[in-house]
Amino acid sequence: MRILVTGGAGFIGSNFLNMLVPRYPAHSFVALDKLTYAGNPLSVADLEGAKNFALEVGDIADADTVARVFDQHRPDVVVHFAAETHVDRSIVDPTEFVRTNVVGTLQLLNACKTRWKGEGPRRFHHVSTDEVYGSLGDDDPAFTEDTRYDPSSPYAASKASSDHLVRAFHRTYGLPITVTNCSNNYGPRQAPEKLIPLTILNALDGRELPVYGTGRNCRDWLYVEDHCEAVWAVIERGVPGRTYNVGGGEERRNIDLVRTIGQLVAEETGRPEAEILGLIRFVEDRPGHDWRYAVDSSKLRAELGWAPRVELPAALRRTLRWYMSNPAWVESMRGGEHDRWMEKNYEGRQQLGSAAGTHHGRTER
Ligand code: NAD
Ligand code: DAU
Repeated sequence: MRILVTGGAGFIGSNFLNMLVPRYPAHSFVALDKLTYAGNPLSVADLEGAKNFALEVGDIADADTVARVFDQHRPDVVVHFAAETHVDRSIVDPTEFVRTNVVGTLQLLNACKTRWKGEGPRRFHHVSTDEVYGSLGDDDPAFTEDTRYDPSSPYAASKASSDHLVRAFHRTYGLPITVTNCSNNYGPRQAPEKLIPLTILNALDGRELPVYGTGRNCRDWLYVEDHCEAVWAVIERGVPGRTYNVGGGEERRNIDLVRTIGQLVAEETGRPEAEILGLIRFVEDRPGHDWRYAVDSSKLRAELGWAPRVELPAALRRTLRWYMSNPAWVESMRGGEHDRWMEKNYEGRQQLGSAAGTHHGRTER
């Protein structure tokens, strides 16, 4: 198979490639990535020299770029990870989210539709998020594939829009698509502005650990390699036209997760736990902050036999150790755009100081 991986220099895309390129020498893999602040060629540097891997730098929202890459590499599988992914950035400015996530997805779908005319198995796999389903209350059942779409943030709305386009191309043009909607990922190579790497790196540096609102919002965490295995299982054995939810089943309140990371950092560095936990600061909440996500993966488990292989405490320690032993990668993600974002997002945020916080909008049902 010739496999085009969009967003292959980002967090999940690079983990996908680092797992699969060595495993399948008979398949060729091409990463197409714009190398935004979240993309890093170092994340795929171990694949340099592999005969079955190439990195193309380019924008999926640019039709000419997409056409050139399709004509040169003639992919028969597209694994579509590329996206603007940070909810807080989408709140500051949604424009790029619509451009990349909606228009970019459309350009890729158009390229597949016009080129995939002949023989051979083909697949457009769209990597999406549980955030399209909106927010759960504490006692609500987990999201299933039939849960009504109800996105809260501009990011989630742009992903919802792209999901609809992908399914419309299946119904209207018969494009062989699959979709996965996954919960929060963690692991190596995640941009340091997302909660887990931010907390790890700030704790290691002795900087404040910002927790939005009361910290009682809940996320369902999945180790990135388990997500990548799910995506591959769906590409290999999933039914065209179908959607599969992917979740870790490891629900944690943000404040509990931040405390666990603080404890792990204390254990791994020998520094006093109280000193690290003393860095926690409750800060002004994210507007429209979804209260809780939980994903029901029973369809994926039953149909394709997928299950997560690792559990959160062990994989979180593995993740921490990766960040501690890869300072060159960490440094390459900092400076410039990263520093500007950190200043913009945190400097103006009011400190709440204690465990008391406010919730905006419809966060608790
Ligand atoms: P990321 O932000 O770490 O990486 C995104 C990658 O896409 C980067 O390498 C970036 O350079 C690239 N990119 C951005 N705009 C582009 C454009 N216009 N053209 C080409 N490349 C572009 O994201 P991630 O966390 O790896 O997420 C990958 C996918 O998985 C996204 O579609 C996201 O919605 C989805 N997802 C993520 C999570 C999570 O917890 N991280 C969970 C569920 C689903
Ligand atoms: O659920 C899947 C989604 O998970 C993906 O679709 C997104 O691309 C990915 O970024 C992630 O979205 P979240 O908004 O859940 O991730 P983030 O790491 O930004 O935040 C996780 C939780 O931590 C969330 O409740 C907000 C909170 N938070 C985040 C930051 C950055 C804080 O309390 N403090 C922070 O400084």
